[in-house]
Amino acid sequence: MNHLVSPSMLSADFANLFRDIEMINNSKADWFHLDIMDGVFVPNISFGFPVVERIKSLAQKPLDVHLMIVDPDRYLERFRDAGADWLTVHYEACTHLHRTLSQIRKLGMKAGVSLNPHTPVEVLADILEETDLVLLMSVNPGFGGQKFIQNTYSKVERLRAMIDARKLDTLIQVDGGVDTSNADQLYKAGVNVLVAGNAVFKSQNPHEIIRILKGL
Ligand code: DX5
Ligand code: ZN
Repeated sequence: MNHLVSPSMLSADFANLFRDIEMINNSKADWFHLDIMDGVFVPNISFGFPVVERIKSLAQKPLDVHLMIVDPDRYLERFRDAGADWLTVHYEACTHLHRTLSQIRKLGMKAGVSLNPHTPVEVLADILEETDLVLLMSVNPGFGGQKFIQNTYSKVERLRAMIDARKLDTLIQVDGGVDTSNADQLYKAGVNVLVAGNAVFKSQNPHEIIRILKGL
């Protein structure tokens, strides 16, 4: 099974964004994880289109954009134009999730859906076929550097069983409190993609952390 790592730019040094983008370009990381927060869906505001566009112009790897915003339908096309390759919306923010995911695919992006820690994976039973990636939040979204919620392992195992039973290739991504102490157990439970913010950017040796997170 493929092990992908998507460092979260929320933990990068915004005064040295070029340096941090180059670090990811030159590392074994697979994607750039970009957290978009609107101050409504989550109690924090991050960054918007100008920053996404600038990262896109320098990134040599796909952009994995995680929308923590209400009513994401309003902005799907703009995120595509800004450079998103993977676009993930929250289950809790979408009244018509089927329509939203179909629209993301129609715009030429891969469609992701994210679940907050309290949302059971079973709610995806009737939408998995339309989903390229499921992002399981392993902290309450809004901030980097929080503690990993242990119940995530059970959610990963249950989701892995649902995906395998239907012979789908939907990727499972975990985001929040991921570091070198839990990466291996997450892969064993069935995760494909690890997001890591603080573990990568607050480290003295981010290349080495990325290598360990990839299981290399
Ligand atoms: C939290 C974000 C995460 C965050 C992860 O709401 O979705 O992507 O940046 O940061 P760490 O890895 O530090 O928990
Ligand atoms: Zn995220």
